[in-house]
Order: sequence, then C-alpha cells, then structure tokens
Amino acid sequence: MNVTSLPMLPDWNHDHMLVVFTGLERPDLANILGGRHEHVERLAARAKFDGKSGTMKSIPLLDDGFPGEVVFVGVGNDADHKSIEKAAVKSTAGDMLKKAGNVVVVLANDLSDKPNAHGALALGLMLGGYRFDIYRKEADRFTPPKSLSVLGLTTADLQKAEALYAGIKLARDLVNEPANILTPPEFAKRASKLADLGVDIEVLGEKQMADLGMSALLGVGQGSELESQLVVMKWLKGGEEAPLAFVGKGVCFDTGGISIKPASGMEEMTMDMGGAAAVTGAMHAIATSDLACNVIGVIGLVENMPDGRAQRPGDVVTSMSGQTIEVLNTDAEGRLVLCDAITFTKDRFQPSAIIDLATLTGAILVSLGHEYAGLFSNNDDLVARLNTASEQSGDRVWRFPLTEKFDSMLRSRVADMANIGGRWAGSITAAQFLQRFVGDTPWAHLDIAGTAYVKEPHDQGPKGATGYGVRLLVDLAAGKK
Ligand code: BES
Ligand code: ZN
Ligand code: MG
Repeated sequence: MNVTSLPMLPDWNHDHMLVVFTGLERPDLANILGGRHEHVERLAARAKFDGKSGTMKSIPLLDDGFPGEVVFVGVGNDADHKSIEKAAVKSTAGDMLKKAGNVVVVLANDLSDKPNAHGALALGLMLGGYRFDIYRKEADRFTPPKSLSVLGLTTADLQKAEALYAGIKLARDLVNEPANILTPPEFAKRASKLADLGVDIEVLGEKQMADLGMSALLGVGQGSELESQLVVMKWLKGGEEAPLAFVGKGVCFDTGGISIKPASGMEEMTMDMGGAAAVTGAMHAIATSDLACNVIGVIGLVENMPDGRAQRPGDVVTSMSGQTIEVLNTDAEGRLVLCDAITFTKDRFQPSAIIDLATLTGAILVSLGHEYAGLFSNNDDLVARLNTASEQSGDRVWRFPLTEKFDSMLRSRVADMANIGGRWAGSITAAQFLQRFVGDTPWAHLDIAGTAYVKEPHDQGPKGATGYGVRLLVDLAAGKK
C-alpha cells in the first residue's frame, strides 16, 4: 500500500475517508477538521468511541459538508511508536480500506510528540497493507485505496519507513512464493537485482562450490534437478572496519530428502528459505537506506529432494572446514547448508561477527511458538546488541544455553560428528552443530522456524510470511543504542 505525506487537510469531498488514531483523552480531536470540529467530536461520541487501545469504530460522516466515512482507531493514552504501529497494522486488516477512495490518516491527541510516531504510523499502514495475491484473479486481489496520506508525516520519516518496508516486502514475497517458482537459481536471480541498489553481488554455482570443498551443502542439493547456489552480497560503505556477516538458510523446498517428511503439512516447507529471505531483505533495506556500515550477506540456496542420486542416511561428507559429518537424517539439512556457508564467510571475510538465520528446527516451535526466535550465541556482547535491536524492532528473541554436554550429543560412530543429536533438545543440538564451524568468531544463531511464517494475522502484518529478521538485522547494522 502506497503511503504519502500530507501537509494539510484537503478540501473534503465524497470519496474522502478519515482515519483518526487517538487515545482516551482526545484534546486535539476538536481541531481535526478545522472549523467543523464539533462535528468530529460528536461523531466520536455517537460511535461510543473511547480511544482504548485496540478498539476501532467506524461511522459515516453524513451531511455537514463531510460525506464519506470516519474511522476511529484507539491507541490508548500511553502509546509509543510500537503501539501506534500495531494499531496501524490492525486498521488495515479485513475490508476497511478495500476500494476506499482518498484516505486521510490523522494522529490525534498529543501522541505526535512521541518520537517517530508518524513514521511508525506510516510503517504500520505499509506492513498491514501487504498482500500476496499475484496468483489470484484480478477481481479477488486486494485493491488499495486511491490514496492514503498521513497528515504531518515528514518526508524523511516517510523515506525511512519506505526503505525498511521495501526490504520486509521483499523477504515476505520470497517466503510466500511457491517452490516451483522460487527455485535456487530464481532466488539467486532475484538477489542479484540488489546490484541496482549498489550491492556487490557474486553467485557461486555447484562447480565453484565443489572447488571450495563445500560437500556438506552440495550433498543436500544432490537429489535435486536444480542447481544449488551460494549468493554473496557485499555492502561495504563503512570504511576500514571488519564487516558484520549475515548468513541465511535457503532451502527452497524441504521434502526431508530420503528421510522424507509426512505428506500432511509438507507444502509449508516452501518457507524453508526464510533465513535467506531475511538476509536478502535486510541487505535491500540497508542499501536503500544507504547505511554507512560494512555488511556481508551470504545465502546458501538448495532444494532437498529424494531421488536416485540423493544423499542417503549414513552417508559421510567432508565439510569445507575439513570436519567430516555422518548424515544420519537427511531432513536435518539446514545445518549442512549453513556449516559450509559459515566456513566460507569466515575464511573469505574475517567478519567481526556472524549472525545466521534459519528455519532450522520444528523443536523451536515447541519451545517458543510463533512469538520468539530462538537465540544461541558464543558471545554476550553480541547478545546484548541483538537484545537492543530486538527491543527496538519488535522482532523478539529468546536466548537458549549452549554447553559441552549438549555438544557431546553429536558424537558419531564413524565421523567427526553426526548431523543429529537424538530426541531431546533438538534446537540446541542443531545450534551446537553450527558452533563447531564458527571458531573464535563472535556468532549468533537465530532459529526462526516459528517466526518466519504464521497462519494468523500478527502485530506486524497479515498471515503468511512475516519478514521476521529484516528489521532486527537492519537495527543491528545501524547500531541503534
Ligand atoms: N525445515 C525443517 C524445520 C522446520 C520445521 C521449519 C517446521 C519450519 C517448520 C528442518 O529442516 C527439519 O526438518 N528439521 C528436523 C530436524 C530433525 C531431523 C533433527 C526437525 O525439526 O524435525
Ligand atoms: Zn529444512
Ligand atoms: Mg529438513
């Protein structure tokens, strides 16, 4: 949904709709329509609108020279940028803005004094107005309002919201795309478009990865007709400092391989590239915002299929690091992709820190549902920075422990390690596996299996792909305190 800023109220006509975000005390409500203030006050009273957070009341503007409709949205009196954004997301749910004419959005009360309140309002409208309906017939697609303008929104705040939203939208689109469209080569092609924003792009195919010894990653894609890809995105606009590296799991479809998944729900595994999508979306937002920082994005793109050539349970592969892995379960493939992507990133760039994002385990859904991503790290400073970014962005994280004991669960009969750790603590043993490849580099792993894709509308948008992680990574890169 396209949001614009509006310096002053337009001459009112029949296709205007007024959306007023306000709290319990409504000191400024009287001024919204200039001279016609009593009218808006009266409408609020008639709608029995009390401004409570989470409430929404709509009422026709009737006569008095104000045709159209007014919608009141409650944000409470102690609203901050987060609750304003949330109210804005909520206001776009359902049919309210469907086929609306020119919509004018007003932040009433003294809420406009809150830092970035208008920017949060604009971003919320964009996030909530997201739809993925390109495969529906025209008549069934969401029609945004003719115009949607936020009164008092500055151009700078609008641009900031737009840059962030474009990254989140990209991540959501990638996650929502079906696997017959978004194949590893197609994903690489879409990521390559970031070159238009000044991001330096490199795409490695199977031959180049084989030369580097990336047999763990390549083993996962071995049963697929589609070529595995490693995409490297470089944004080096921060001077001499070592870059921050983001690494994403990009399993474009996860059947489980020979350790095949049950039929029921397998279609959801189109979202198994949510980590790669978050990394790509973050790089997009960082470049669009022209952040002065050094950031590397690396995504491993594969398809995990059963086939005559597919990897078998019990196969032993040698990772790029030289460590050998016994593949006891071909469905624990994300860590096999990530371990080589991490080694590549570490060797090539000596980053100051590595953050990997992956839809890695079903077990993280058992622990945290859709509310938090699992956070695993070898570095308390990095965790503190991530917690700050998480607080700022609303992309929630919850830290889990890593210990020797958990690590020892990865013992293998024949190789340096197995790719699974037994029945219990599945999210932790997955993280322990990754830790074996990071060495001394400060590292954090985010298990986003529960947060990348949800089946109900949520605080940041409609059901489906959430774009989780884009904002977290952008705020981390921006180093917001
Ligand atoms: N892609 C899945 C994890 C997943 C599950 C993501 C549910 C999103 C929703 C991953 O590749 C996987 O299959 N993990 C296995 C690991 C097990 C074999 C150790 C799992 O979680 O069952
Ligand atoms: Zn997977
Ligand atoms: Mg799997």
